[in-house]
Amino acid sequence: MDSHIVLLPGDGIGPEVVQAGQEVLETVAKIFGHRFTFETRLIGGAALDASGQPLPPDTLAACRNGGAILLGAVGGPRWDNPSARVRPEQGLLAIRRELGLFANLRPVKVFDELRSCSPLRPELLQGVDLLIVRELTGGAYFGKPQGTERSEQGERAVDTMAYTDHEVRRIVRLACEIAQRRRGKLCSIDKANVLESSRLWRRIAIQTAADFPGVALEHALVDSAAMRLVSQPASFDVIVTENLFGDILSDEAAVLSGALGLLPSASLGAKGPGLFEPVHGSAPDIAGRGIANPVGTILSVAMLLEYGLDLVSEARAVESAVKRVFQSGLRTADLKAANAVTTKAMTRAVTAALDELH
Ligand SMILES: NC(=O)c1ccc[n+]([C@@H]2O[C@H](COP(=O)([O-])OP(=O)(O)OC[C@H]3O[C@@H](n4cnc5c(N)ncnc54)[C@H](O)[C@@H]3O)[C@@H](O)[C@H]2O)c1
Repeated sequence: MDSHIVLLPGDGIGPEVVQAGQEVLETVAKIFGHRFTFETRLIGGAALDASGQPLPPDTLAACRNGGAILLGAVGGPRWDNPSARVRPEQGLLAIRRELGLFANLRPVKVFDELRSCSPLRPELLQGVDLLIVRELTGGAYFGKPQGTERSEQGERAVDTMAYTDHEVRRIVRLACEIAQRRRGKLCSIDKANVLESSRLWRRIAIQTAADFPGVALEHALVDSAAMRLVSQPASFDVIVTENLFGDILSDEAAVLSGALGLLPSASLGAKGPGLFEPVHGSAPDIAGRGIANPVGTILSVAMLLEYGLDLVSEARAVESAVKRVFQSGLRTADLKAANAVTTKAMTRAVTAALDELH
């Protein structure tokens, strides 16, 4: 297949890991007979420096025309002035909004070889392979009214957690489709014993999942689900939840893997290109040293292939190549390794494993 991929390296270690992602995509194209073309654009602090805007119009136009987008990370101490009117992170928020990306997918799979990196006991991590589908454009972050008012009694601040049936239906439907392709288990997380928006969420989740007879739907309250995520993480397959709960739970789940640098993500809309990026930030403390772990980005490439381009065998091949490299004992510095390898060496090992597997 032919596909045009927009690369947004961003700041800090972003360019180093996106370079790794591009090399993996080029290897996939060579092995499977696809033609991927690439276009690199500015976002975040790098774009602010060049144009005064964190998401310049030419970057947005390129993204709209692309088949998929691979992003590194944005932000860093250079742009950390709290009184600044524009900040690098606004580039990320703007691109999600402009492309209508309402679903954020965060898989967490614990590689057997890396169980000792996690702060959890290794036996709890056996078989952990879960995926959180977080609603990204609704809930308390965007609901109106929102603001702070002053009165004679003092200040009062308000946020509104609001959802429409349409917003719930489209995210639960996507989660059901994903569950169908995995182990067929879907856990919808809410706070239906207290919140009205959660009661609507639960009702619509039940209605929507009824169209997917192969998917077993269960419900969990967010407080007990938070405990279960660290006490029985292997009991989850796909989780679907609203924006605020998903924000917190996906960071909690990230701890299971033991290293931020391993985790991928995807943000999808109803149509148009998806945005694929590692979960980590721009890691200014190690930027420019060539030691960043590229695996989060490489696994984001696997998600780009699967969810962005519908190339499922290619995605599985990338995941198998990463697993093989870990089995061979290769580690980057963040994985508590004595003989850590560089970003480039890790990437070369993954592309070599891809070549060997085919
Ligand atoms: N999506 C994004 O672009 C995104 C996400 C989070 C933070 N940020 C931004 O990144 C900057 C730094 O934030 P932070 O320090 O809180 O989080 P961070 O994820 O950048 O770094 C946290 C720690 O993890 C390490 N780390 C992260 N990714 C790694 C990798 N691939 N390989 C090896 N080590 C890795 C870093 O060295 C650091 O010690 C801030 O400006 C923040 O706003 C951006």
